[in-house]
Amino acid sequence: MTCRIAVLPGDGIGPEVIREAVRVVEAVGAATGIAFDFTEAPIGGAAVEATGDPLPPETEQACLAAGAILLGAVGGPRWDREPAARRPETGLLRLRKAVGAYANLRPVRVHRAMAGRGPLRPEVVGTGIDVLIVRELTGGLYYGERGLQQEPFGERAYDTMVYTTPEIERIVRMAFQLARGRRRRVVSVDKSNVLETSRLWRRVTEAVAEEFGDVELEHMLVDNAAMQLVRNPGRFDVLVTENTFGDILSDLAAALCGSLGLLPSASLGLPGRPPLFEPVHGSAPDIAGRGIANPLAAIASAALMLRYAFGLEREARAVEDAIDEVLAYGPWTPDIAPPGAPVAGTEEVGRAVALKVRERLAPAP
Ligand code: NAD
Ligand code: IPM
Ligand code: MN
Repeated sequence: MTCRIAVLPGDGIGPEVIREAVRVVEAVGAATGIAFDFTEAPIGGAAVEATGDPLPPETEQACLAAGAILLGAVGGPRWDREPAARRPETGLLRLRKAVGAYANLRPVRVHRAMAGRGPLRPEVVGTGIDVLIVRELTGGLYYGERGLQQEPFGERAYDTMVYTTPEIERIVRMAFQLARGRRRRVVSVDKSNVLETSRLWRRVTEAVAEEFGDVELEHMLVDNAAMQLVRNPGRFDVLVTENTFGDILSDLAAALCGSLGLLPSASLGLPGRPPLFEPVHGSAPDIAGRGIANPLAAIASAALMLRYAFGLEREARAVEDAIDEVLAYGPWTPDIAPPGAPVAGTEEVGRAVALKVRERLAPAP
């Protein structure tokens, strides 16, 4: 069996961190004999520059022909004044829709070695944080009708949030199923005190919950959820929410881990379509080109790819254990280095993880 991977480095630090993720997957191949086949294709600003289109047809075809898609990040100040059709982010949204990736899983775990290195007090982190954010990814404000109109006294802009029963059912059902393999607690986050979409979300969630008598359901308003995530993150197991709330809450949760450079994601969807794996962070224009971006979120995304796209559980675990070892003992990029410790670059960290992966999967006799 050959594992076919479409590699979309994208913009800014995207290519820098994806290079290290590919290095680690190659180390898995070298240690196990599993065949990985990589096809690289442009997306985002890089694709706009090359073709005028942030998701060229060739890229979309390469993705649909692959068993998995590994993506860096898209966007940057250079394209911030472009019309929507030529924006890098539009390419990513079109790709998510094209592969039907409606379920974005963002696991948030705080490694014990990171306690005290992030913004939270060690006693808050030390209770053990293990939250799975399940973000709806192909509906809501991101895909609703939007527009900009001239008015006599200025302009008028609008974006619309739309959700249908089937869209809510499938994502909430996925969250409940995942909770069964964990601590059996689901918190559904909405804004049902204001939004009609949220009131529908709540009703549908309660109906789905009937199928899962063994899983506990709690509803929480999104503003309170933001506060609870900081105050007492240990109380969350699975957190399911709509697209925009999930985007915002996952960056907040990333800060709990110590750095946005640590959080991976897996976007799963329609059967027969390739899943998409990407770090939660963006193209980080403020540090791009300096070789200091943290590659661990991209590498952890590759681990999720091994698990969910190819069923390679042992190999995924080896990568995750190697990441934990590097978090504990270094080398560290500047965003996570303990005070006073020497700092390393993106490539040094990638090489360290790849080496430890080889040691774990093919121990010396
Ligand atoms: P960002 O996630 O790129 O960066 C936010 C902050 O986190 C910056 O200070 C950055 O230096 C830091 N950071 C991010 N990743 C890091 C890493 N791996 N290692 C160390 N530090 C890291 O968010 P932003 O600055 O708001 O957005 C920049 C661009 O990225 C925008 O064009 C945005 O649209 C795009 N974006 C893309 C994606 C994606 O492709 N999935 C996700 C988020 C943002
Ligand atoms: C993310 C990003 C994207 C999103 C942007 C770049 C469209 O912020 O993956 O979290 O909002 O979904
Ligand atoms: Mn985001």
